Amino acid sequence: MRGIPGWRRLRLAGWRRCTLAFLLAWAAGWVVLSALLFLLHGSVFSERCTDEDGHRILARLCLDYSSGALTGDLCEDLCVAQKLVYKHCLYYDRGKKVIQADWRGQPIILKSKKEIFSSYQHLSMLDEVETQDIPETEILLMVALEVKNVLGLELSNNSTGPLWTRRKGPHWKAQVASMWSLIQQEEYIFFSLLQDFSKHVLRIIGSCGHFYAVEYLTAGHAWHKTLFPLENIVGPSLAGRRSRVRAIIDIALSFLDMVQHFDNDFSHRLHLCDIKPENFAIRHDLTVVAIDVDMAFFEPKMRDILEQNCTGDEDCNFFDCFSKCNLKIRRCGAQRANNNLQVICDKIFRRWFSPSLREPLVSFPLQPQLQKAVQECAELGHVDTTVHQRTLKSLIELYHLLRVSQQELQRVE
Ligand SMILES: Nc1ncnc2c1ncn2[C@@H]1O[C@H](COP(=O)(O)OP(=O)(O)OP(=O)(O)O)[C@@H](O)[C@H]1O
Ligand SMILES: *[C@@H]1O[C@H](CO)[C@@H](O)[C@H](O)[C@H]1NC(C)=O
Ligand SMILES: *[C@@H]1O[C@H](CO)[C@@H](O)[C@H](O)[C@H]1NC(C)=O
Ligand SMILES: *[C@@H]1O[C@H](CO)[C@@H](O)[C@H](O)[C@H]1NC(C)=O
Repeated sequence: MRGIPGWRRLRLAGWRRCTLAFLLAWAAGWVVLSALLFLLHGSVFSERCTDEDGHRILARLCLDYSSGALTGDLCEDLCVAQKLVYKHCLYYDRGKKVIQADWRGQPIILKSKKEIFSSYQHLSMLDEVETQDIPETEILLMVALEVKNVLGLELSNNSTGPLWTRRKGPHWKAQVASMWSLIQQEEYIFFSLLQDFSKHVLRIIGSCGHFYAVEYLTAGHAWHKTLFPLENIVGPSLAGRRSRVRAIIDIALSFLDMVQHFDNDFSHRLHLCDIKPENFAIRHDLTVVAIDVDMAFFEPKMRDILEQNCTGDEDCNFFDCFSKCNLKIRRCGAQRANNNLQVICDKIFRRWFSPSLREPLVSFPLQPQLQKAVQECAELGHVDTTVHQRTLKSLIELYHLLRVSQQELQRVE
């Protein structure tokens, strides 16, 4: 009989202890959650760039321009004539400094990996020479070396054209120093060299010091219903269902053009290893443009990246680029086993043509056929050797279906 109240007291005390523990845990949980939210907010916040940051960055750039340390074809418009006007600061901190501006009525983007000119490596050669007779061949060699490092490509001596043009005149030191700061930015090298060869890379408009200007485009967003904010492209008056459908089909066709082009039109295949809406943008004519090429590699560099030690296939994945593990020698294959088309089908086209359980986005003419073709394209697999043929077949089929859809839409009009 006695045992029971004792047991009860014990249980009661235990219960109180439990409550206390629970309350403590609850409080601790809140503290941790608040701290996490604070940190998250802090990091999100620090990536955003305030107008104050933006103005400070450009003011510093112009100060260095007026002191003669740097120069470029846009400096005069930015720092003196005020024809290049600051609009917003888009990105900051860990990533590149990305500023939106207006240049003679045209929206542009100013970019630099680092904020301050002097943070870039200094070209000591410039301190040694006093005359304008800078050793041109030496500089050309350095440019070629940098290109070899960044892109893994050998340039012939005369194809550094867009990266290095003969600089003479009163400000030649500032010109060479500015060029050298640009050469240290991989993305600048990439876009510059492909300028004349591809409509699917960003146009470079000009530069001032370490900042280079590119065309402003409509960038993609993963959370956007149509991935790209079409109302910015086709205009709000045309944002009806039919023009949305037509725009998506045109953009999809441009994605296919880009795949073809990157696979075949350069001396080496170009692999895109980070395919997501954010890394592409759309021009007014609905051309797809690669805007973030930090994860784009030409074949020789791709092979270097993939060829790693491995114990299984999962060791041979590099973002969207895979190869297979040769278990005998425990090395990943140097050859990429999947391809750009597959990943674009999987990560972009599926969102348009194979809508999930959520409400259908828009319905396309030939919707069932498109859905099936996209599904097959995304699931080509990378196990057997017929992938190449099946990719080609997929590409042809998608082209066909999209073109027929396009005609269908025009006929109904
Ligand atoms: N040409 C452009 N037109 C419009 N918006 C752009 C353009 N270039 C960049 N942006 C915007 O700025 C953002 C950051 O640019 P970018 O991706 O070049 O920087 P990053 O430092 O490489 O970023 P990430 O962290 O993705 O590597 C993009 O996500 C995009 O929203
Ligand atoms: C480029 O020029 C350098 C120096 O003039 C020379 O040594 C080299 O062989 C040249 N390379 C090519 C590919 O022409
Ligand atoms: C480089 O120069 C050679 C010989 O002058 C020429 O045949 C070749 O087309 C040039 N290449 C480029 C990319 O300009
Ligand atoms: C990969 O494996 C080789 C041979 O087994 C070994 O010599 C090498 O150090 C390894 N490399 C790395 C990066 O682990």
